[in-house]
Amino acid sequence: MRAGGCLPGGARSAWSRQFRSRIAVGVGACSSSDMSDSFKRLQHTWESLGVEDPLWAIASEPGKKGNRWEVQDFLASGDEVVDRYWLLLERAGAPDKIGAALDFGCGVGRLSLAWKRRAESVTGVDISAPMIERGRRLAADASGVRLELNRRPDLSMFCDACFDLVFSHIVLQHMPWKIARGYLAEFARVCRPGGWIAFQLPSDAGRPETAARIRRWLVDHVPFGLGRVYRRWRRGASELFDMHFTSRKKVEDLLASLGVEAVLLEPDASAGPGTRGYIYVCRKAC
Ligand SMILES: C[S@@+](CC[C@H](N)C(=O)[O-])C[C@H]1O[C@@H](n2cnc3c(N)ncnc32)[C@H](O)[C@@H]1O
Repeated sequence: MRAGGCLPGGARSAWSRQFRSRIAVGVGACSSSDMSDSFKRLQHTWESLGVEDPLWAIASEPGKKGNRWEVQDFLASGDEVVDRYWLLLERAGAPDKIGAALDFGCGVGRLSLAWKRRAESVTGVDISAPMIERGRRLAADASGVRLELNRRPDLSMFCDACFDLVFSHIVLQHMPWKIARGYLAEFARVCRPGGWIAFQLPSDAGRPETAARIRRWLVDHVPFGLGRVYRRWRRGASELFDMHFTSRKKVEDLLASLGVEAVLLEPDASAGPGTRGYIYVCRKAC
């Protein structure tokens, strides 16, 4: 497999010419102010979480709240996640060595570092500056791993077809579909023809969501910042991340429209106990 990243603004592939217009239509289906409000909120939430308790915000195990993760254990949890994806990729027919991998929503690089055992180079991108800063310290001695800040609702920092594997775990679930589908289209664009895309998305909360939504709205609208104080007292963090559920059909329809084949679907509950969803292991058409 081909190694190495690429510079933005490279030559546009045939794939790009064929599918770019469809992506634009998909993303443009919601108003741009709607989109930018949701995006700003997403960024604000993850900036705050990245400062307060980044490792717990990433891997929210109850006993680890309050900066109680030991870094070694935290990184070992990443190895387990990547091992699981690796087995799925193998089952789907991926080669046993990956060239250039993209870890979208890398946080502090837990999975980027784990992917380095399997890929020649790994680029992690994240929307949160404190996450990236912490990650760069953790990855200081890891050759072939670079972590980059990306505060855009696209991946225009990368040119077409520059990754052999595009990967994302427990990231797309935290954004509305109108944003997630734009990134999925970008995954397809930056993946090389014949390359692999693997990501997870929950489809079902397993319980009614209405009460939780109303509670969240009320806390968000308490004046004088008291909602944040309440949340810190009740939950140990002043921000809560959103959780979004997307039907398998919606995801599969989008992938098909992008020229990406969902080769293997694995049931998954990474979004939390009782939730249902899938890991999608996909291949971009040659
Ligand atoms: C639950 S953490 C998972 C981190 C990492 N994937 C892992 O499993 O170790 C979600 C991450 O997604 C990042 N994120 C959320 N929205 C993003 C976006 N639009 N672009 C890039 N990163 C994003 C957050 O900043 C956070 O670091």
